[in-house]
Amino acid sequence: MRICSAVARTKRMDSSIAQHCKSLLMLASLSALACMPVSSYGQNGADPFPDGPGKDLVLSNCSSCHSPAAITRAAGFSSADEWRRVFSTMITLPDAQANTIASYLAEHFPEDTSRRPTLIAGDTNIEIIEWTVPTLGQRSRDPIESPDGAIWWTGMWASLAGRLDPETGFMEEFRLPPSARPHTIVPDADGNIWYTGNSNGTIGMLDPQTGMITEYKTEARDPHSAVFHPNGNLYFTSQGAAMLGRLNPANGDLKEINVEPRPYGIKVDQEGTVWVAFNGTNKIGALHPDSMEIRYFEVPDERTRIRRLDIDSQGIVWFVNSTMGKIGRLDPDTGEIRQWDSPSGPTSHPYSMAVIDDVIWYNESGMRPDALVRFDPEDESFQSWAIPSGVGIIRHTWVTESGDLLIHQSSSNQVGIVRID
Ligand code: HEC
Repeated sequence: MRICSAVARTKRMDSSIAQHCKSLLMLASLSALACMPVSSYGQNGADPFPDGPGKDLVLSNCSSCHSPAAITRAAGFSSADEWRRVFSTMITLPDAQANTIASYLAEHFPEDTSRRPTLIAGDTNIEIIEWTVPTLGQRSRDPIESPDGAIWWTGMWASLAGRLDPETGFMEEFRLPPSARPHTIVPDADGNIWYTGNSNGTIGMLDPQTGMITEYKTEARDPHSAVFHPNGNLYFTSQGAAMLGRLNPANGDLKEINVEPRPYGIKVDQEGTVWVAFNGTNKIGALHPDSMEIRYFEVPDERTRIRRLDIDSQGIVWFVNSTMGKIGRLDPDTGEIRQWDSPSGPTSHPYSMAVIDDVIWYNESGMRPDALVRFDPEDESFQSWAIPSGVGIIRHTWVTESGDLLIHQSSSNQVGIVRID
């Protein structure tokens, strides 16, 4: 089914938190979170928030978008300045309130140093530039580069797509259908932005020139990640529905198939095979683009879960083993699999993955700060950096035309670029 509608383009350089939170709370799944009584988050009925000046302010200001458990489960900060820097990327508060909250959090929720990444020095130089997106709390993610060189991202919780001019820093946000809550976006050759409507079971296309949106209704309830194929079709995963789909933008034809649990990341290799990472089983899938037949490769250890993968110039499939804290390579010709431990160990939770000039780039999302890691297959060496904004999570990255890496941080509403020397 194809539905067309026009939407107004909204330019938002300022962010109105009150208004924004109201619209977020209208989303059913979030209102459930927000309406849960605060006391229900204590373990065994105990209140995890000690009494003190600032407690009430935390409970009233920090529970509209997520449960206050986001604070107790986080790695914390030992200085009020750092706490303030981080929550200021989520909510704008009057100075006095922000100071009281920051002091309270620094006193009662200091840094858990066990979550610091193990950083490895090396010879590669990078520069990381990050921007805070206009609407806070949107959970910015999945940045891409469009053919005109702009950077786009999706703000899943606010159901928007944003455009950033990396030269000037100018940002513009485009409202998408409120129930879509896009998980990912991909550009087509004409500069249209395609999105996966994760909450309303659609694939959508935004034409940035006209603001027109075209929606295609999917059988799967939760389209997740997507990739364009040289054959012109869009292939996508639906994690919860355990389905893969193929959409032909030329005529709207849609083909969907059932697969193993939780298909996640998706990429196309040089020969046109569509590779799929599975986050619900220890497998990687190779999908034939025409027949939609899928072949599975099993990665050792049943606890293995793979969020994302990418392919090098030799057709080797590189993947993150998120649950085991490893990265690995699969040779599709022989089925041989090799894995390496990520520097920060078994709880490092490698998440995003991109291959640039046959060098592997990924992040350790379990660490605070979230670490960016480079792995050189030639000498099997690692190098890593702490990401300046620190509070994860990079969930997906994109390689630009010039070979740089686009990143984001979904908690702290950042979109960034890693310029690689
Ligand atoms: C406008 C929405 C919004 C408000 C208000 C908000 N946050 Fe958040 N916060 C987020 C989002 C979005 C995330 C990421 C959740 C995710 O990725 O699942 C997050 C995550 C977090 C995390 C986890 C970070 C990590 O290590 O992964 C902490 C800590 C946090 N918030 C603290 C606060 C504090 C303190 C306040 C109040 C001063 C606050 N938040 C208010 C949107 C908000």
